[in-house]
Amino acid sequence: MGLFDSHAHYDDPRFGGDLDEVVALISSESEICPCGVETVVNIGCDVPTSRLCLELADKYPLFYAAVGIHPQDAHTFNENSIAELKEMLEHPKAVAIGEIGLDYKYENAPRQVQKDVFRRLMELARETGYPVCIHDRDAHGDVFDIIREFPDVKGVMHSFSSSPEMAKQYVRMGWYISFSGTVTFKNAAVVPEAAKAVPLDRLLVETDAPYLAPVPYRGKRNKSCYAYATCARLAELHGVSTEEMVQITRENALRFFKMLQK
Ligand code: NI
Repeated sequence: MGLFDSHAHYDDPRFGGDLDEVVALISSESEICPCGVETVVNIGCDVPTSRLCLELADKYPLFYAAVGIHPQDAHTFNENSIAELKEMLEHPKAVAIGEIGLDYKYENAPRQVQKDVFRRLMELARETGYPVCIHDRDAHGDVFDIIREFPDVKGVMHSFSSSPEMAKQYVRMGWYISFSGTVTFKNAAVVPEAAKAVPLDRLLVETDAPYLAPVPYRGKRNKSCYAYATCARLAELHGVSTEEMVQITRENALRFFKMLQK
């Protein structure tokens, strides 16, 4: 009964050379992660990487996939994109639409293009019934407003970085909140406060590998076994044991991604 990493990018070139070894390492019980990693959802950032995530899911039993278009890649959206993503969602290991959202720090695409693409993908979620994984960087207000246009769509806020009040709003809407290594960073005081504000049954844990490795691995290439340190921090904030937090976040993720009936 191992850890569930709800958001990773093992399709990233940084895993190109040694992915077999990394998968063997994270799957096994180790000092870094005594329970081992049971499941990972790889998240697509455009059509080609979404396909790659599905190919990885075909190859490795512990991998599942989300397909979507990241706001930094919104300029790659074209009239075929929705049909291509829809076809990919037919894959038995496709469990969500993501990552989608808005990024006002890196405006590779103008804000209006990002918003248009975000709305198209939220529409796809409404139509297909898949949950969404949301990327929100420096765009908290606009992300919230667009999400509220789609009350039937449920999702997770990935690597949550907004306020405890915002976290509570999403929880009231039936959403989940996912925390990455940033909850362990000493200079990010608001993130632990937000993590405390989320009830246990709505918490997810993630790596965002290869990015955002938690303390004490900060700066290294992140991998799913390191999420045990993130679970330990979340456990401390909620007054439960790390083992309990691993179980809680795994059960939440299975429910969120509707994997219990798969
Ligand atoms: Ni990501």
